[in-house]
Amino acid sequence: MVAPILALRGVNKSFGPIDVLHDITLDVRAGEVLCLLGDNGAGKSTLIKIMSGVHQPTTGKIEIDGDAVGLPSPRAASEKGIATVHQFGGTFPLMSIGRSFFVGVEPTKGWGPFKVYDRKRANEVAVKAVRDFGITRIEDGDRLVGGLSGGERQSLAIARAVHFGARVLILDEPTAALGVKQATHVLRIVNEAKRRGLAVVFITHQVMHAMAVGDHFAVLIRGAVAADFKKGEKTREEITDLMAGGASMASLEAEIEGYMASHDGHPPPLPAQ
Ligand SMILES: Nc1ncnc2c1ncn2[C@@H]1O[C@H](COP(=O)(O)OP(=O)(O)OP(=O)(O)O)[C@@H](O)[C@H]1O
Ligand SMILES: [Mg+2]
Repeated sequence: MVAPILALRGVNKSFGPIDVLHDITLDVRAGEVLCLLGDNGAGKSTLIKIMSGVHQPTTGKIEIDGDAVGLPSPRAASEKGIATVHQFGGTFPLMSIGRSFFVGVEPTKGWGPFKVYDRKRANEVAVKAVRDFGITRIEDGDRLVGGLSGGERQSLAIARAVHFGARVLILDEPTAALGVKQATHVLRIVNEAKRRGLAVVFITHQVMHAMAVGDHFAVLIRGAVAADFKKGEKTREEITDLMAGGASMASLEAEIEGYMASHDGHPPPLPAQ
């Protein structure tokens, strides 16, 4: 079997006396979406910060293509093809689409050929890259990023990462702030990135979003991998319960949904204190 593009082997992370991650072993494979699930404070963001060179593991190893590597900085991670898209796309609202596409891209080997900023060309390349991902409403590279919808911004950031040769795409809650339609769009783009052979690490709190794109799932509970399973191995209810740390949330959720369906969409009243 081919080595995973990115792997963590027995990774622990402490901040001073606080142990945040315990003995994390995970594989991130080409052409697969790994969904990282877990409740607030479970350690998801800390884990992807280790994958993207922001934090260093206290102990344990990171492997790329089967070889142990260090990722001492975000730049080192990005040079190894690991791209992280933060919430809201990590873009600059007052920049044009063309400019934000090329910002910070130093002309290193295998990357963009632009040593001097060429507005017309930058706009052409950026608009084409975004349109190739199915965002056909974007036609003008001079438009400001701030005028794009949340979903379009996420899509721009993903298209940019793919364009500049990312092999691993890390998305920290890309659909959290989006409406149904925009979230669907982002999910479609995640599928397109996967189809192009990227490995995707996708963090979400929404089980339906995870189930729509995930090939592989890892659930973190208090900094440890509590479950690691493949698509089809668990039901929506089981995943929901795991995400809530093992509590039986799915039945509560179903109860609330049932109540709302029979009460004109109103949620049940809060219990009296
Ligand atoms: N720099 C730090 N120093 C000390 N503790 C930290 C630091 N960063 C994170 N933590 C702690 O580590 C735990 C995990 O945090 P993390 O942000 O990784 O959770 P998360 O799973 O991303 O949560 P959320 O779903 O709310 O985004 C939390 O208890 C947090 O307080
Ligand atoms: Mg987080």
